[in-house]
Amino acid sequence: MKLRDYLARSIQGVPVDYLPSHAKLMDKVALIRLRGEVEGLKHEIGARTLQFYKVRAVYLIRGVEGVERRPRLELIAGEPIREIVHREYGCVFKLDLTRLMFCLGNSFERLRLAALASDGEVVIDMFAGIGQFTIPIAVLSNPERVYAIEINSEAYTYLVENIRLNGVEGKVQPVLGDCRKIVEEHMQGIADRVIMGYFWGTIEALSPALGALKPEGGTIHFHDLARRGGEREFIEHVLGRARHLGYRVELLEWKRVKSYSKTRNHVVIDFFAMKI
Ligand SMILES: C[S@@+](CC[C@H](N)C(=O)[O-])C[C@H]1O[C@@H](n2cnc3c(N)ncnc32)[C@H](O)[C@@H]1O
Repeated sequence: MKLRDYLARSIQGVPVDYLPSHAKLMDKVALIRLRGEVEGLKHEIGARTLQFYKVRAVYLIRGVEGVERRPRLELIAGEPIREIVHREYGCVFKLDLTRLMFCLGNSFERLRLAALASDGEVVIDMFAGIGQFTIPIAVLSNPERVYAIEINSEAYTYLVENIRLNGVEGKVQPVLGDCRKIVEEHMQGIADRVIMGYFWGTIEALSPALGALKPEGGTIHFHDLARRGGEREFIEHVLGRARHLGYRVELLEWKRVKSYSKTRNHVVIDFFAMKI
């Protein structure tokens, strides 16, 4: 049975479409979004959702804010659980879900990237978070080194913890700070692959990211939001910027990672780049 059908049985007088179709499940916690029309029923919906999934807490997702992408969550049923352990593809991710973001919708992208990384590569994960891309690459492929850079000290603390929990201390070097500055000043010319997993101003980090590639070239994974139907234009904009910075570029692949809003998609562009 679906969550929506379960809720519709006990909550009457509300159009079924207004009720949430599903929740995101992480460890013992369910996360849901609610339409404004049923905001007044949030505690009742929360209590039923708690029963349906047999979880210990239900949080309402209110959005994400700031450079550090902090989630805005409200507990609507159960006990406050902050720290959870999420498992995916044999990897373990510990985080405080009330403070840090972990997007279940990016799950396939995490696996795809780990499958692309070849043996012995040097990878730079510029917006590492708690290790969403770094950990699967380190666990599932065999890189020589992954440099995982994160600006938020809370996320960095979990990044370090997740490196330890997954037993990849020998492969991953966590770095606390602004990736644009760190890559520009200390990591030029060393990488086979650079991951730019962030939306807000990714293009501003493109110059240091390109500079981080080895002289024989390498791959950039550039994430951003693109207008639906405007993906080609968006790709040309990013590749055009790289050409303008003096690189020969070749589009390898692009993908819609997930729908972001009615007008925009989360898109990733994989491209090869080499300094001319
Ligand atoms: C939304 S999370 C994404 C994590 C992961 N890359 C993913 O796509 O799932 C983006 C992370 O980038 C970090 N961040 C933002 N600006 C940064 C910067 N200039 N240098 C390093 N990290 C940064 C934020 O603190 C946040 O943890």
